Amino acid sequence: MTQTPNLPQATISMRGITKVFATDEMETHALRGIDLAIDTGDFVSICGPSGCGKSTLLSLLGLLDMPTSGSYQIEGHEVSGLSLSEAAYIRNEKIGFIFQSFNLIDELTVFDNIALPLRYRRSSIPKAEIDARVQACLQKVDMTHRSGHRPNQLSGGQQQRIAIARALVGNPALLLVDEPTGNLDSKNGDAVMEMLCELNRKGTTLCMVTHDPRYADMAGRKLHLLDGRILDADGAPLQHPQPLRQVAP
Ligand SMILES: Nc1ncnc2c1ncn2[C@@H]1O[C@H](COP(=O)(O)OP(=O)(O)OP(=O)(O)O)[C@@H](O)[C@H]1O
Ligand SMILES: [Mg+2]
Repeated sequence: MTQTPNLPQATISMRGITKVFATDEMETHALRGIDLAIDTGDFVSICGPSGCGKSTLLSLLGLLDMPTSGSYQIEGHEVSGLSLSEAAYIRNEKIGFIFQSFNLIDELTVFDNIALPLRYRRSSIPKAEIDARVQACLQKVDMTHRSGHRPNQLSGGQQQRIAIARALVGNPALLLVDEPTGNLDSKNGDAVMEMLCELNRKGTTLCMVTHDPRYADMAGRKLHLLDGRILDADGAPLQHPQPLRQVAP
């Protein structure tokens, strides 16, 4: 596939990743040894039953949370043991998120919602550049005419397009998408998927959780998760090496 020249690289490698959620009463083994490599320009879909660990995997990929053990490298740099602020810095620079429930802020205009990730960057970006990048993203999702509206004045499909624009404004190396069509009817769902496929065709690396087999089939690679493990094509858990190092006790 032809890469858009200014898109950053996204080489992702997970080995033996586990995630245990522990409370006083119980431990939940949400991920039980994930090996996963994603290259720049890939489109990977993740399917599996409720509770199998899909969102947990996405939040680890996006550095919203840290694994219990295992190795996670982005562009060859180990990121599994980073502090929260270091993780937030990398996330802000390299990763875009699209959540199932849009997660837009109703008190802000569409324009300010999209600008938010840029305003959180460590190095301040000049206002003129922020304006230009937000406008470019509004154009990409065909929502220029709504830039002054509040999210709660928009339809579900329109809100999801704004969420996509917000995820794209930082020019992320990796776009993580959790059930992007979960709250949409099939017409709006198809439109959002078309937009995501187009982004991938232009070079954006995409990792998408979906329960819809039609949309999962659009990906170049389909992963099936069951009980915290990735299944191979025959439905058996893939073998994985022992965790390379412990991240937390
Ligand atoms: N913060 C948490 N604390 C404790 N347990 C958690 C936490 N987050 C997730 N879990 C548990 O980890 C397991 C995996 O959850 P996860 O949200 O990844 O599932 P999922 O595959 O995304 O499910 P769904 O399709 O319903 O969204 C579940 O058993 C869930 O209850
Ligand atoms: Mg989930």
